[in-house]
Amino acid sequence: MGEENLEILIDAAKIKRRVSELGREISKDYAGRFLTALVVLKGGIMFASDLVRAIDVPVSLEMIGLRSYGKSTASSGVVEITLDLSSPIEGQHVLVIEDIVDTGLTLNYLLDNLRTRRPASVRVCALLHKPERAKAPVKVDYKGFTVPDRFVVGYGMDLDEKHRNLPYIAAID
Ligand code: IMP
Ligand code: MG
Repeated sequence: MGEENLEILIDAAKIKRRVSELGREISKDYAGRFLTALVVLKGGIMFASDLVRAIDVPVSLEMIGLRSYGKSTASSGVVEITLDLSSPIEGQHVLVIEDIVDTGLTLNYLLDNLRTRRPASVRVCALLHKPERAKAPVKVDYKGFTVPDRFVVGYGMDLDEKHRNLPYIAAID
C-alpha cells in the first residue's frame, strides 16, 4: 500500500457548529414527540453521539449495522445487516443517522427494510451527501454538508477500518 494523502475538507470546529444547528432544527421539528434515533453503524457513531446531545426532545437510541463496501471504496450495492435493531420500532418516529449518502443504495435498502417494521414516520439525517454519485433516489431530510465526489475519512468514516477516530473530515487518495 502506498502513501496516504489526507486533505482536510471540514475541520472539527465547523463540524461542531453544523451539528448544533442540525440539533436545533431537529428539536424544533420533533417538539412534543418522542424520537427514536437510529444510528447506522459503524460510520454514523461519532456524528450520532454528538447530534443526539444537541437534541432536546426525548430520544431513545437504537443501532443498526450495515455494510456495503467491504475493503473497496465503491459501493457494491449488496448491503448486509451486520447488527440488527434490539427492539421493534413499530409506531415510533424514527430518525436515521448516517455518516454519508453516496450512491444512496445503502439508505434505499435500509428505508425499504424499515418500512416493513411499520414505524409512525421515518426521516433521514446524513452528515455528508455526495449528490454527484446518486444511483438510487433518496430524500435526505437533514443534511450536514454537501461534498465533492472524493473518498472521505474521519469523524467515524473509514477506509478499510482506518481513520474513523480523526476529529475532522478529510479527503484521501
Ligand atoms: P452508498 O450506498 O453508496 O450511499 O454508501 C453508503 C455508505 O458507504 C455510507 O454510509 C458510508 O458508510 C460508506 N461510504 C460512502 N462514501 C464514503 C466515503 O467517501 N468515505 C467513507 N465511507 C463512505
Ligand atoms: Mg454508513
